[in-house]
Amino acid sequence: MEITLTGITTTGTPHLGNYVGAILPAIEASRRKDVRSFYFLADYHALVKCHDPALVHRSRLEVAATWLALGLDVENVIFYAQTDIPEILELTWMLTCVTAKGLMNRAHAYKAAVADNVADLDKDPDKGVTMGLFCYPILMAADILMFKASKVPVGKDQIQHLEMARDIAARFNHLYGEHFVLPEAVVDEKTAVLVGLDGRKMSKSYGNTIPLFEPEKALRKLIMRIKTNSLPPEAPKDPDTCTLFELYRAFASTEETTAMRARYAQGIGWGEMKQILFEYLNDRLREPRTHYHDLLARPDHIQQILQRGAARAREYSAPFLAELRHAVGIRPLGT
Ligand code: TRP
Repeated sequence: MEITLTGITTTGTPHLGNYVGAILPAIEASRRKDVRSFYFLADYHALVKCHDPALVHRSRLEVAATWLALGLDVENVIFYAQTDIPEILELTWMLTCVTAKGLMNRAHAYKAAVADNVADLDKDPDKGVTMGLFCYPILMAADILMFKASKVPVGKDQIQHLEMARDIAARFNHLYGEHFVLPEAVVDEKTAVLVGLDGRKMSKSYGNTIPLFEPEKALRKLIMRIKTNSLPPEAPKDPDTCTLFELYRAFASTEETTAMRARYAQGIGWGEMKQILFEYLNDRLREPRTHYHDLLARPDHIQQILQRGAARAREYSAPFLAELRHAVGIRPLGT
């Protein structure tokens, strides 16, 4: 059976851009019966980026609740927190010991951090670079290789990490025998990239996001803030350069989208369009939002779901790690 695996970083509060770009397609895929899927909270990875314990804790809860509220099928997929799988860290070390430092030197995220420092002449090139950041791709390789995933749905920015995982796996296989499956990145070119409040790509780093489960009033306020041009209400408008239309289209059916195009051609006032968009999104999000807040109020229930997922995941990781230990020469003395 095909095995797919995807990691969800637990930093920040999920927004509409995450929803249409990553969460929605992944949740749809979670219902497929012909693949074995692993979905996990990459909370060891969160420690690389975030040293605020309260935020790390909160974000794990919020991200898990978001996926559950939106209908992740946890009977079908194995859903767990990376930090509940101790085998991952042991594998990370085994992989670290066969990974060339030169390979890590080439990682985009590390190189970008160094380039920023070098641009600032009096800075140490490695200022602010932790070993966690430097070795991030090895931890990610362990996540993937542990479950023999052959397909890994990721964003474009993660392609290099998949190439590194393959390199590391091949090196290990060469030294110790064919234990790992070489994984491939699956990048969906069709997934929408949403624009944010200011017209740039919706991203936490630009501070232009619309959080998914914002209360109704706050959602309305954010939508009213979306940048538009100064055409009068009756003027025909171009839907394809309009953030409001983009957002509408990300959620609407083909027929609804076509009908809305016609309204743009006739001329639609920005105030009216914003109200339509607000009502549309609010209708779609109302039910999962309620579910989300119910879940947030029951952290023990979420914890239980994750624990169950971890137990299922460990049915694969524990025996596989025993095999790997044996392969590298860590076995009981006298055998
Ligand atoms: N690095 C990924 C990201 O930032 C998250 C991640 C961690 C991941 N481990 C993974 C994704 C394993 C796929 C497979 O989005």
